[in-house]
Amino acid sequence: MRPALLYRRHVASSLRRAYTARTEPPPPRQTRRPEPVNSTSPVAKSSSANKSPAAPPSSLAPWIFGALAAGLGFYSLQLYLAASKPYHNTRIADLAAQKDVAERYDYTATNFDSEVGLSELLMGVNGLRKKLARKCHGDVLEVSCGTGRNLGYYDIEGKDAKVESLGFIDISPQMVEVCQQKWAALFGNKMAQQKLKPGLKLRFMTGSALGDMPMAPSGKKYATIIQTMGLCSTASPAELVENMARHLDTSNPDSRILLLEHGRSYLPWLNRVLDNSAEKHAELHVCWFNREIGELVEKAALQSGLEVVSERRHHLGTTWVFELKPTEDAVKKAQAGLPPVATPQTNEREQEGWLSKLGWK
Ligand SMILES: C[S@@+](CC[C@H](N)C(=O)[O-])C[C@H]1O[C@@H](n2cnc3c(N)ncnc32)[C@H](O)[C@@H]1O
Repeated sequence: MRPALLYRRHVASSLRRAYTARTEPPPPRQTRRPEPVNSTSPVAKSSSANKSPAAPPSSLAPWIFGALAAGLGFYSLQLYLAASKPYHNTRIADLAAQKDVAERYDYTATNFDSEVGLSELLMGVNGLRKKLARKCHGDVLEVSCGTGRNLGYYDIEGKDAKVESLGFIDISPQMVEVCQQKWAALFGNKMAQQKLKPGLKLRFMTGSALGDMPMAPSGKKYATIIQTMGLCSTASPAELVENMARHLDTSNPDSRILLLEHGRSYLPWLNRVLDNSAEKHAELHVCWFNREIGELVEKAALQSGLEVVSERRHHLGTTWVFELKPTEDAVKKAQAGLPPVATPQTNEREQEGWLSKLGWK
């Protein structure tokens, strides 16, 4: 159970926040620019150099442990209460009105990495990101790119690298800005030393992944479209997958849509926790964490002439990894210059969640 509770903006953070008294709307949009990622300002240096944390006097130890134990007890009680409550709002998972997505992410952009970093590390999410990003090839578009948490994992170094071009798009300008700064910090030197794929094209774009997105620099559609943790943050998740399909080069059978998402579990008690805290969580974080991701993606794929190559679940089923490709029929149509037509899925999907292997779903 522990890993699932650590999940980024998941159950633990949601419950903690949901049951505190915070009900006020977020502060107005910040217009200040984020600090550079590799800032070496003297203030930052001197503050870390001069201060060494003082050890608490030993007489404080019982109080600290007492406070921790009380906090843990309170948290466990809230978790138990949320898990035992009946599901009281059948509309939560379908909430269509999602206001101010860009504004909310603009506000959170500079702190986003520190908010999610530790839990993602402990949960092994970075490994999942890496595995997925390493599959990207050709002209690659990352939609809902956020702060660029996948940046370090693309195959872009050396002349044999698989990625020809990399485009990043997000609806929040501040998220894109952090992403671009991270790129400079990670790859600025390597670019200068020409260690990256020769001719690698790079673009950072602000815009909605629900609308028309620019073609690849080659003038074609994309060979790979990747999105991580994006379906939770949009009011129209199915439309988002369908729009990715429209931007995919379906004339190429190797084209792929790769998704790493989070949503409902296969455990009823955990779904009750998610359902009962989803509304508050969405209000605070613009993230619907109780969506039926599998059903949604499978339907959208079918609508768009895509088939599911693989579908895996982790973290008690709350994390989903998909690989989608164009159906044979869609490839033929695209090669003939015709629009893709949905065809029934015939391929057997790979189901690798360890509980699903035992027949639990
Ligand atoms: C939970 S964050 C995930 C960020 C990043 N992909 C990651 O894995 O950490 C969701 C991101 O989706 C973006 N987003 C939401 N709706 C979008 C849309 N319609 N078009 C593009 N980006 C969108 C948000 O601005 C935010 O950066």
